Amino acid sequence: MSQQQNKQVVLHERPQRGPITDTTFKIQQSEIKQPGEGEVLVKVEYVSIDPTMRGWLNDVRSYLPPVQIGAVMRATSLGRVVKSNDSNFKEGDLVFDTFGWQEYWTGPGKAIQKRVTPEGGRDIDHMGLYGLTGMTAYIGLFEIGKLKDGDHVVISGAAGAVGQIATQIAVAHPKCTVTAIAGSQEKLDYLKKLGAHNVLNYKDADFKKKFKEVGTIDVYFDNVGGEILDLALGQLNPYARIIACGAISAYNAEKPTPIYNYFNLVSMKSTMRGFIVLDHADKFQEGAKYLSDLVKEGKLKADYHVTYGLDTCVGTLRDMFEGKNFGKTVVSLKEQKEESEKSKL
Ligand SMILES: NC(=O)c1ccc[n+]([C@@H]2O[C@H](COP(=O)([O-])OP(=O)(O)OC[C@H]3O[C@@H](n4cnc5c(N)ncnc54)[C@H](OP(=O)(O)O)[C@@H]3O)[C@@H](O)[C@H]2O)c1
Repeated sequence: MSQQQNKQVVLHERPQRGPITDTTFKIQQSEIKQPGEGEVLVKVEYVSIDPTMRGWLNDVRSYLPPVQIGAVMRATSLGRVVKSNDSNFKEGDLVFDTFGWQEYWTGPGKAIQKRVTPEGGRDIDHMGLYGLTGMTAYIGLFEIGKLKDGDHVVISGAAGAVGQIATQIAVAHPKCTVTAIAGSQEKLDYLKKLGAHNVLNYKDADFKKKFKEVGTIDVYFDNVGGEILDLALGQLNPYARIIACGAISAYNAEKPTPIYNYFNLVSMKSTMRGFIVLDHADKFQEGAKYLSDLVKEGKLKADYHVTYGLDTCVGTLRDMFEGKNFGKTVVSLKEQKEESEKSKL
């Protein structure tokens, strides 16, 4: 290996309420740490960009501890083993874990997962379709949302990573009607192509009126929280299920959005349940099989928004909050672009 330096993006200072700034992160070089007994050295190929990263920067109690000042930014990642002192791994193995926003990771082999890409498959799908993104859509709809035949399913953030998979699962489910919500006409066109029956732009002046027109809701897959959640609560069917997946509208907000329609959970005997996908690992194999069957039937495809080089991580995270991504967002650290990375509807 000729390169001896490891480029890393570390947390420099915690952002106050609101978006990350130019001084939130800094880039540094460090020596590549050589693997000790039982350890492997991984060259990272893809790092994930996720809305939840904004929450990891706050010094508050959450489902994971905050990223510490000076630490490499936490991120799920895919890479290849370049040196191994663990007999379970050899050079060239594809591996997945939380390697972070950096070019190399060194650590115990027992802490990471080996991944195999099936013949004709794409490595990048370990970051999206068959990774936590696909599992979030699957667990959300079936475990939390108890999706049933004939449900009217409403999905917010529908053209994003989780949303695009959830939309296609619901479209493929027998007799379901799917209303997909996103923030631009280009995204609505994309969602129509994915089979959504109704598409709504939440930035339109008459969005509230159009939302009412789509009718009452059996399942609401909530990726955004805030005002759209409140509207959905206002038009629940009896025994509706609200999948509290995320609340991206709140992550950078200065203050919370009031929820006026909370009592409908009582009067409509409905359930709103939050979940963290990591708690459902026992269902991942089943989920991957379900999703790959849909792919084989031509009912599901996954799109990726790919930027190149570690220097793009911070800007790409910022862009996500402005809706610039279609599908799952990743940063590729590979030297060459692959065909699979260039695809977009
Ligand atoms: N519970 C879990 O285990 C779990 C796991 C993964 C993700 N999540 C959550 O799921 C949600 C979606 O995550 P993702 O990775 O799929 O992200 P994503 O949807 O790929 O990207 C975020 C999208 O949210 C939309 N958005 C940004 N600001 C918004 C606002 N103020 N109001 C409404 N929409 C806004 C943007 O699209 P538009 O152009 O449409 O605005 C943007 O493209 C997030 O809330 C995330 O935290 C939860």
